[in-house]
Amino acid sequence: METTTTVFNDTFATDVLEGLSSTPKFLSSKYFYDEKGDAIFQQIMDMPSYYLTRSEYEIFNTHKNALLQLFGPNNEPFHLIEFGAGDGLKTKVLLKHFLSQKAYFRYLPIDISENVLSLLTHGLEIECPNLEVEPLANEYFEALDILNKQERNERKVILFLGSNIGNFEHEKAIGFLRQMRQHLNPNDLLLIGFDLKKDPEVILEAYNDKEGITKSFNLNLLDRINQEFGGNFDTSKFRHSPTYNPLTGATKSYLVSTEDQVVTLEKLGKSFSFEAWEAIDMEISQKYSLSTIQHLADRAGFQVTSNFFDKNKYFVDSVWSVK
Ligand code: AVI
Repeated sequence: METTTTVFNDTFATDVLEGLSSTPKFLSSKYFYDEKGDAIFQQIMDMPSYYLTRSEYEIFNTHKNALLQLFGPNNEPFHLIEFGAGDGLKTKVLLKHFLSQKAYFRYLPIDISENVLSLLTHGLEIECPNLEVEPLANEYFEALDILNKQERNERKVILFLGSNIGNFEHEKAIGFLRQMRQHLNPNDLLLIGFDLKKDPEVILEAYNDKEGITKSFNLNLLDRINQEFGGNFDTSKFRHSPTYNPLTGATKSYLVSTEDQVVTLEKLGKSFSFEAWEAIDMEISQKYSLSTIQHLADRAGFQVTSNFFDKNKYFVDSVWSVK
């Protein structure tokens, strides 16, 4: 009884039970990022086929000065707030440039993981010793609530990079952006990275590398479920299968059961049957057109101020102001 109570208060357990009991089955990609998942994602970002990181890096390098003019015109002070800071590789391009221009700003990375934040902050102490850093270990909007209560006067510039927005289904993305809008003041800005529609083969290669790194990124969630809930998923009996729909722009990743099998999660007291070739829906990585980006901004109460592209037009960093 006690175990059951503990388990059902845990959202990870509840989400896993809900997803594996549904038809079709699904798991949320937000659970990919345990320590091992973080490390695999780093490897993904280094893959030649994963163009997203390089494209956004190029955008920042090319347009860092134009971005500074938008964020802090006439050297007005601002708070640069990053949602889901990670290793800060791309952001450092901006931070170093802004420092070199003597911009009047401070950097506030928000991440739920204290560990991620302390690694980032220590790295920044060495690479950007003059930077004012204020790490916030919290959920995104809770951190913004705290800042808003402190009634700081500086403009907030939110960074939401890497096409992280693409990991939300369309309506959820709008809900998230509306929530963002509610936390901003009229003078604040949002810089949001979107992966654009492009040659389907380029997209599929980014999510189906021959080395099997993306496959292991997906399978790692089954391992994580095994560890946390006493599961017996046999990862060799699941195939990684990504698809891209050029009509909708949805890139989807599935794990497909190669045979009839039953998986038991002992600590949750549940078993789940898989038919041969039944799929688990693992992740959406939405690709956008400029008109869809405009539509998202409209529906969430924002105005598109500027769009910055890499030379291939694979990716866009879109700066939005409040409508
Ligand atoms: C974090 N996110 C934007 C990545 C993406 O491209 O959807 C996660 C990822 N999934 C597979 N490869 C990378």
